[in-house]
Amino acid sequence: MAPSFVDTRELKTFVVDDGHGVKGLSELNIKTLPELFIQPLEKRLDMTKVVPNESIPVIDMSNSEDPKVIKAICDAAENWGFFQIVNHGVPLSVLEDVKDATKRFFALPANEKKKYLFKNSPTKNVRLVTSFIPEVDKVLEWKDYLSCFYVSNDEAMAFWPPVCRDQVLEYMNKSEPLIKRLLEVLMTRLGISKLDETNQPFLMGSRRMNLNYYPICPNPELTVGVGGHSDVSTLTVLLQDQTRGLYVRKLDSDNWVHVPPINGSLTINIGDALQIMSNCRYKSIEHHVVANGHENRVSVPIFVNPRPSDIIGPLPQVIGRGEKALYKKVLYSDYVKHFYRKSHNGKDTIDFAKA
Ligand code: OGA
Ligand code: NI
Repeated sequence: MAPSFVDTRELKTFVVDDGHGVKGLSELNIKTLPELFIQPLEKRLDMTKVVPNESIPVIDMSNSEDPKVIKAICDAAENWGFFQIVNHGVPLSVLEDVKDATKRFFALPANEKKKYLFKNSPTKNVRLVTSFIPEVDKVLEWKDYLSCFYVSNDEAMAFWPPVCRDQVLEYMNKSEPLIKRLLEVLMTRLGISKLDETNQPFLMGSRRMNLNYYPICPNPELTVGVGGHSDVSTLTVLLQDQTRGLYVRKLDSDNWVHVPPINGSLTINIGDALQIMSNCRYKSIEHHVVANGHENRVSVPIFVNPRPSDIIGPLPQVIGRGEKALYKKVLYSDYVKHFYRKSHNGKDTIDFAKA
Protein backbone atom coordinates (compact mmCIF):
# COMPACT_ATOMS: atom_id res chain seq x y z
CA MET A 1 0.00 0.00 0.00
CA ALA A 2 1.29 3.45 -0.87
CA PRO A 3 2.24 5.47 2.19
CA SER A 4 0.49 8.68 3.09
CA PHE A 5 2.81 11.55 2.33
CA VAL A 6 1.38 13.80 4.98
CA ASP A 7 2.71 11.49 7.65
CA THR A 8 6.50 11.71 7.70
CA ARG A 9 6.84 8.74 10.00
CA GLU A 10 4.93 6.45 7.63
CA LEU A 11 6.88 7.76 4.71
CA LYS A 12 10.13 7.07 6.50
CA THR A 13 9.01 3.54 7.31
CA PHE A 14 8.16 2.91 3.65
CA VAL A 15 11.45 4.33 2.38
CA VAL A 16 13.96 3.40 5.05
CA ASP A 17 12.62 0.38 6.94
CA ASP A 18 10.68 -1.60 4.35
CA GLY A 19 13.30 -1.80 1.62
CA HIS A 20 11.52 0.43 -0.91
CA GLY A 21 14.14 3.15 -0.74
CA VAL A 22 13.79 6.45 -2.55
CA LYS A 23 13.67 4.34 -5.71
CA GLY A 24 10.35 2.88 -4.54
CA LEU A 25 9.09 6.36 -3.77
CA SER A 26 10.25 7.67 -7.15
CA GLU A 27 8.39 4.87 -8.89
CA LEU A 28 5.09 5.95 -7.31
CA ASN A 29 5.38 8.94 -9.66
CA ILE A 30 4.84 11.48 -6.93
CA LYS A 31 4.69 15.00 -8.31
CA THR A 32 6.12 16.93 -5.41
CA LEU A 33 9.04 16.18 -3.15
CA PRO A 34 7.96 15.23 0.39
CA GLU A 35 9.15 17.56 3.11
CA LEU A 36 11.37 14.82 4.56
CA PHE A 37 13.76 15.43 1.65
CA ILE A 38 13.65 19.22 1.45
CA GLN A 39 17.16 20.32 2.34
CA PRO A 40 17.91 23.68 3.94
CA LEU A 41 19.39 26.10 1.38
CA GLU A 42 22.92 25.83 2.74
CA LYS A 43 22.97 22.08 2.09
CA ARG A 44 21.97 22.39 -1.56
CA LEU A 45 24.48 23.11 -4.29
CA ASP A 46 24.33 26.78 -5.25
CA MET A 47 24.39 26.55 -9.05
CA THR A 48 25.54 30.16 -9.33
CA LYS A 49 28.83 29.00 -7.78
CA VAL A 50 29.47 26.46 -10.54
CA VAL A 51 32.20 27.58 -12.94
CA PRO A 52 31.23 26.58 -16.47
CA ASN A 53 33.76 25.32 -19.03
CA GLU A 54 36.19 24.12 -16.42
CA SER A 55 36.73 20.73 -14.87
CA ILE A 56 39.17 18.43 -13.16
CA PRO A 57 42.17 17.08 -15.12
CA VAL A 58 41.73 14.09 -17.44
CA ILE A 59 44.85 11.92 -17.49
CA ASP A 60 45.69 9.21 -20.02
CA MET A 61 47.36 6.37 -18.14
CA SER A 62 48.43 4.28 -21.17
CA ASN A 63 52.01 4.82 -20.11
CA SER A 64 52.00 5.32 -16.37
CA GLU A 65 55.83 5.18 -16.24
CA ASP A 66 56.08 8.35 -18.31
CA PRO A 67 57.40 11.18 -16.07
CA LYS A 68 54.81 13.52 -17.61
CA VAL A 69 52.00 11.19 -16.52
CA ILE A 70 53.51 10.82 -13.06
CA LYS A 71 53.73 14.59 -12.74
CA ALA A 72 50.16 15.05 -13.98
CA ILE A 73 48.84 12.61 -11.37
CA CYS A 74 50.76 14.15 -8.46
CA ASP A 75 49.88 17.70 -9.57
CA ALA A 76 46.20 16.78 -9.84
CA ALA A 77 46.26 15.21 -6.36
CA GLU A 78 47.85 18.37 -4.94
CA ASN A 79 45.85 20.99 -6.76
CA TRP A 80 42.47 19.39 -7.38
CA GLY A 81 42.29 16.28 -5.20
CA PHE A 82 40.22 14.85 -8.04
CA PHE A 83 41.00 13.69 -11.57
CA GLN A 84 39.63 11.43 -14.26
CA ILE A 85 41.69 8.71 -15.90
CA VAL A 86 41.33 6.97 -19.25
CA ASN A 87 43.26 3.95 -20.57
CA HIS A 88 43.53 2.83 -16.96
CA GLY A 89 43.73 -0.90 -17.68
CA VAL A 90 40.44 -1.93 -16.05
CA PRO A 91 38.54 -3.71 -18.86
CA LEU A 92 35.55 -1.68 -19.99
CA SER A 93 33.41 -4.82 -19.93
CA VAL A 94 34.07 -5.09 -16.17
CA LEU A 95 32.83 -1.52 -15.72
CA GLU A 96 29.72 -2.15 -17.81
CA ASP A 97 29.04 -5.37 -15.91
CA VAL A 98 29.19 -3.72 -12.49
CA LYS A 99 26.86 -0.92 -13.59
CA ASP A 100 24.40 -3.54 -14.90
CA ALA A 101 24.77 -5.49 -11.65
CA THR A 102 23.94 -2.33 -9.68
CA LYS A 103 20.77 -1.83 -11.71
CA ARG A 104 19.88 -5.50 -11.24
CA PHE A 105 20.23 -5.26 -7.49
CA PHE A 106 18.07 -2.17 -7.23
CA ALA A 107 15.47 -3.70 -9.58
CA LEU A 108 14.82 -6.45 -7.02
CA PRO A 109 11.46 -6.24 -5.22
CA ALA A 110 11.52 -4.46 -1.87
CA ASN A 111 10.99 -7.66 0.11
CA GLU A 112 14.18 -9.10 -1.46
CA LYS A 113 16.23 -5.95 -0.91
CA LYS A 114 14.93 -5.70 2.63
CA LYS A 115 17.10 -8.69 3.60
CA TYR A 116 20.14 -6.47 3.24
CA LEU A 117 18.97 -3.71 5.58
CA PHE A 118 21.27 -3.46 8.58
CA LYS A 119 18.61 -4.77 10.95
CA ASN A 120 18.13 -7.93 8.83
CA SER A 121 21.57 -8.53 7.36
CA PRO A 122 23.41 -11.45 8.97
CA THR A 123 26.70 -9.59 8.57
CA LYS A 124 27.61 -6.01 9.45
CA ASN A 125 29.71 -5.89 6.28
CA VAL A 126 26.75 -5.61 3.90
CA ARG A 127 24.00 -3.07 4.30
CA LEU A 128 21.35 -1.41 2.21
CA VAL A 129 20.75 2.20 3.16
CA THR A 130 18.65 5.16 2.07
CA SER A 131 20.10 8.66 2.49
CA PHE A 132 23.49 8.62 4.29
CA ILE A 133 22.66 7.75 7.90
CA PRO A 134 18.86 7.77 8.14
CA GLU A 135 19.00 7.45 11.94
CA VAL A 136 20.95 10.71 12.14
CA ASP A 137 20.03 12.71 9.01
CA LYS A 138 17.29 15.18 9.93
CA VAL A 139 16.50 15.63 6.26
CA LEU A 140 17.06 12.64 4.01
CA GLU A 141 19.25 12.59 0.92
CA TRP A 142 17.78 11.33 -2.37
CA LYS A 143 19.90 8.21 -2.69
CA ASP A 144 19.85 4.47 -2.00
CA TYR A 145 23.07 2.51 -1.64
CA LEU A 146 24.31 -0.97 -0.95
CA SER A 147 27.59 -0.92 0.93
CA CYS A 148 29.88 -3.97 0.82
CA PHE A 149 32.99 -4.12 2.97
CA TYR A 150 35.34 -6.78 1.65
CA VAL A 151 36.61 -9.27 4.19
CA SER A 152 37.17 -12.44 2.16
CA ASN A 153 35.85 -14.21 -0.91
CA ASP A 154 34.10 -16.73 1.31
CA GLU A 155 32.29 -14.00 3.19
CA ALA A 156 31.32 -12.26 -0.03
CA MET A 157 30.02 -15.49 -1.54
CA ALA A 158 27.99 -16.18 1.60
CA PHE A 159 26.50 -12.73 2.20
CA TRP A 160 26.70 -10.38 -0.78
CA PRO A 161 23.60 -10.38 -3.02
CA PRO A 162 23.97 -13.08 -5.70
CA VAL A 163 22.62 -10.72 -8.41
CA CYS A 164 25.65 -8.44 -8.15
CA ARG A 165 28.36 -10.07 -6.04
CA ASP A 166 30.47 -11.62 -8.85
CA GLN A 167 30.56 -8.37 -10.81
CA VAL A 168 31.48 -6.33 -7.74
CA LEU A 169 34.28 -8.75 -6.87
CA GLU A 170 35.53 -8.69 -10.45
CA TYR A 171 35.55 -4.88 -10.46
CA MET A 172 37.45 -4.89 -7.17
CA ASN A 173 40.00 -7.45 -8.39
CA LYS A 174 40.53 -5.91 -11.82
CA SER A 175 41.09 -2.47 -10.24
CA GLU A 176 43.85 -3.74 -7.97
CA PRO A 177 46.84 -3.12 -10.33
CA LEU A 178 45.52 0.38 -11.07
CA ILE A 179 45.15 1.20 -7.37
CA LYS A 180 48.69 -0.03 -6.64
CA ARG A 181 50.11 1.98 -9.50
CA LEU A 182 48.29 5.16 -8.47
CA LEU A 183 49.52 4.85 -4.90
CA GLU A 184 53.06 4.09 -6.06
CA VAL A 185 53.03 7.19 -8.23
CA LEU A 186 51.60 9.36 -5.45
CA MET A 187 54.21 8.08 -2.99
CA THR A 188 57.12 9.15 -5.23
CA ARG A 189 56.37 12.80 -4.54
CA LEU A 190 56.36 12.07 -0.82
CA GLY A 191 59.85 10.59 -1.11
CA ILE A 192 58.68 7.00 -0.81
CA SER A 193 60.05 4.89 -3.64
CA LYS A 194 57.87 1.82 -3.45
CA LEU A 195 54.91 0.07 -1.89
CA ASP A 196 56.05 -2.67 0.46
CA GLU A 197 54.87 -4.49 3.54
CA THR A 198 55.64 -1.46 5.73
CA ASN A 199 53.28 0.91 3.92
CA GLN A 200 50.94 -1.06 1.65
CA PRO A 201 48.65 -2.29 4.48
CA PHE A 202 47.72 1.18 5.67
CA LEU A 203 47.59 2.67 2.18
CA MET A 204 45.36 -0.04 0.72
CA GLY A 205 44.68 -2.59 3.43
CA SER A 206 40.89 -2.68 3.05
CA ARG A 207 38.18 -1.98 0.50
CA ARG A 208 34.57 -0.90 0.61
CA MET A 209 32.43 -0.93 -2.53
CA ASN A 210 29.19 1.05 -2.64
CA LEU A 211 26.51 0.61 -5.26
CA ASN A 212 24.82 4.00 -5.47
CA TYR A 213 21.38 4.53 -6.97
CA TYR A 214 19.97 8.03 -7.48
CA PRO A 215 16.41 7.71 -8.79
CA ILE A 216 14.53 10.33 -10.76
CA CYS A 217 13.49 13.03 -8.34
CA PRO A 218 10.52 15.40 -8.38
CA ASN A 219 11.85 18.91 -7.55
CA PRO A 220 15.54 17.89 -7.72
CA GLU A 221 16.61 21.44 -6.92
CA LEU A 222 15.13 21.18 -3.40
CA THR A 223 17.22 18.23 -2.29
CA VAL A 224 20.62 16.54 -2.77
CA GLY A 225 21.77 13.17 -4.09
CA VAL A 226 24.71 13.28 -1.72
CA GLY A 227 25.39 16.35 0.35
CA GLY A 228 28.84 17.95 0.33
CA HIS A 229 31.41 15.68 1.95
CA SER A 230 34.92 14.37 1.58
CA ASP A 231 35.63 10.64 1.54
CA VAL A 232 37.42 9.03 4.48
CA SER A 233 39.41 6.72 2.19
CA THR A 234 43.05 6.79 1.15
CA LEU A 235 41.75 7.16 -2.36
CA THR A 236 38.47 6.47 -4.11
CA VAL A 237 38.02 4.96 -7.55
CA LEU A 238 34.63 6.08 -8.81
CA LEU A 239 32.74 4.67 -11.75
CA GLN A 240 29.88 6.94 -12.81
CA ASP A 241 27.40 6.26 -15.57
CA GLN A 242 26.53 8.71 -18.34
CA THR A 243 24.18 10.84 -16.23
CA ARG A 244 25.37 14.21 -14.94
CA GLY A 245 25.40 14.88 -11.24
CA LEU A 246 28.83 15.00 -9.62
CA TYR A 247 30.29 18.36 -8.61
CA VAL A 248 33.64 19.05 -6.98
CA ARG A 249 34.72 22.07 -4.99
CA LYS A 250 37.74 23.92 -6.35
CA LEU A 251 40.63 23.95 -3.92
CA ASP A 252 40.41 26.75 -1.33
CA SER A 253 37.49 28.35 -3.09
CA ASP A 254 33.77 28.84 -2.99
CA ASN A 255 33.41 27.64 -6.58
CA TRP A 256 32.49 24.24 -7.96
CA VAL A 257 33.09 22.36 -11.19
CA HIS A 258 31.09 19.59 -12.79
CA VAL A 259 32.72 16.21 -13.47
CA PRO A 260 31.44 15.31 -16.93
CA PRO A 261 30.81 11.60 -17.50
CA ILE A 262 33.38 10.27 -19.98
CA ASN A 263 32.59 6.83 -21.30
CA GLY A 264 35.15 4.31 -20.03
CA SER A 265 36.83 6.70 -17.61
CA LEU A 266 37.24 6.36 -13.87
CA THR A 267 37.29 9.27 -11.46
CA ILE A 268 39.96 9.22 -8.77
CA ASN A 269 39.81 11.28 -5.64
CA ILE A 270 42.06 11.65 -2.65
CA GLY A 271 40.38 10.85 0.67
CA ASP A 272 40.95 12.18 4.17
CA ALA A 273 43.28 9.31 5.11
CA LEU A 274 45.77 10.29 2.39
CA GLN A 275 45.41 13.99 3.17
CA ILE A 276 46.40 13.10 6.73
CA MET A 277 49.25 10.75 5.75
CA SER A 278 50.66 13.24 3.24
CA ASN A 279 50.38 16.04 5.86
CA CYS A 280 48.03 17.93 3.53
CA ARG A 281 50.22 17.76 0.43
CA TYR A 282 47.43 15.81 -1.27
CA LYS A 283 43.92 17.19 -0.83
CA SER A 284 40.73 15.39 0.02
CA ILE A 285 38.17 17.60 -1.65
CA GLU A 286 34.54 18.22 -0.92
CA HIS A 287 32.14 16.83 -3.51
CA HIS A 288 28.40 16.77 -4.00
CA VAL A 289 25.87 14.90 -6.14
CA VAL A 290 22.78 16.78 -7.25
CA ALA A 291 19.48 14.98 -7.77
CA ASN A 292 18.17 14.52 -11.30
CA GLY A 293 14.63 15.18 -12.50
CA HIS A 294 14.79 13.11 -15.68
CA GLU A 295 17.14 10.16 -15.35
CA ASN A 296 18.12 7.53 -12.84
CA ARG A 297 21.85 7.59 -12.09
CA VAL A 298 24.15 4.87 -10.78
CA SER A 299 27.73 5.10 -9.58
CA VAL A 300 30.08 2.58 -8.02
CA PRO A 301 32.91 3.84 -5.83
CA ILE A 302 35.67 1.65 -4.48
CA PHE A 303 36.91 3.17 -1.25
CA VAL A 304 40.52 2.09 -0.82
CA ASN A 305 41.20 2.37 2.89
CA PRO A 306 43.70 1.61 5.63
CA ARG A 307 42.77 -1.42 7.74
CA PRO A 308 40.37 -0.52 10.58
CA SER A 309 43.08 -1.43 13.10
CA ASP A 310 45.72 0.87 11.58
CA ILE A 311 46.92 3.97 13.34
CA ILE A 312 47.28 6.68 10.74
CA GLY A 313 49.04 10.01 10.89
CA PRO A 314 51.47 12.05 8.78
CA LEU A 315 54.03 9.63 7.31
CA PRO A 316 57.48 9.68 8.93
CA GLN A 317 59.09 10.31 5.51
CA VAL A 318 57.01 13.48 5.20
CA ILE A 319 57.48 15.01 8.63
CA GLY A 320 61.06 13.66 8.82
CA ARG A 321 62.05 16.59 6.61
CA GLY A 322 61.15 18.98 9.39
CA GLU A 323 57.57 19.73 8.40
CA LYS A 324 55.25 20.40 11.30
CA ALA A 325 52.67 17.62 11.65
CA LEU A 326 49.23 19.07 10.92
CA TYR A 327 47.46 15.94 12.14
CA LYS A 328 47.75 13.69 15.13
CA LYS A 329 47.77 9.91 15.06
CA VAL A 330 44.32 8.35 15.07
CA LEU A 331 43.01 4.82 15.02
CA TYR A 332 41.44 4.48 11.58
CA SER A 333 38.32 2.74 12.89
CA ASP A 334 37.77 5.69 15.27
CA TYR A 335 38.05 8.08 12.35
CA VAL A 336 35.49 6.10 10.36
CA LYS A 337 33.16 5.88 13.37
CA HIS A 338 33.34 9.64 13.68
CA PHE A 339 32.37 10.00 9.98
CA TYR A 340 29.33 7.76 10.49
CA ARG A 341 28.17 9.61 13.58
CA LYS A 342 27.06 12.78 11.79
CA SER A 343 25.31 13.85 8.61
CA HIS A 344 27.36 15.03 5.64
CA ASN A 345 28.81 18.42 6.41
CA GLY A 346 31.53 19.38 3.97
CA LYS A 347 35.07 18.78 5.12
CA ASP A 348 34.45 18.77 8.85
CA THR A 349 35.36 15.09 9.48
CA ILE A 350 39.06 15.85 9.27
CA ASP A 351 38.87 18.18 12.30
CA PHE A 352 38.84 14.94 14.28
CA ALA A 353 42.50 14.40 13.36
CA LYS A 354 43.76 18.01 13.56
CA ALA A 355 46.89 18.33 15.66
C1 OGA B 1 30.32 8.78 -2.56
C2 OGA B 1 30.26 9.77 -3.65
C3 OGA B 1 29.77 10.28 -5.95
C4 OGA B 1 28.87 9.84 -7.04
O1 OGA B 1 29.65 7.73 -2.69
O2 OGA B 1 31.06 9.02 -1.58
O3 OGA B 1 30.78 10.84 -3.47
O4 OGA B 1 29.08 10.30 -8.17
N1 OGA B 1 29.67 9.44 -4.80
O5 OGA B 1 27.97 9.05 -6.80
NI1 NI C 1 32.23 10.71 -1.89
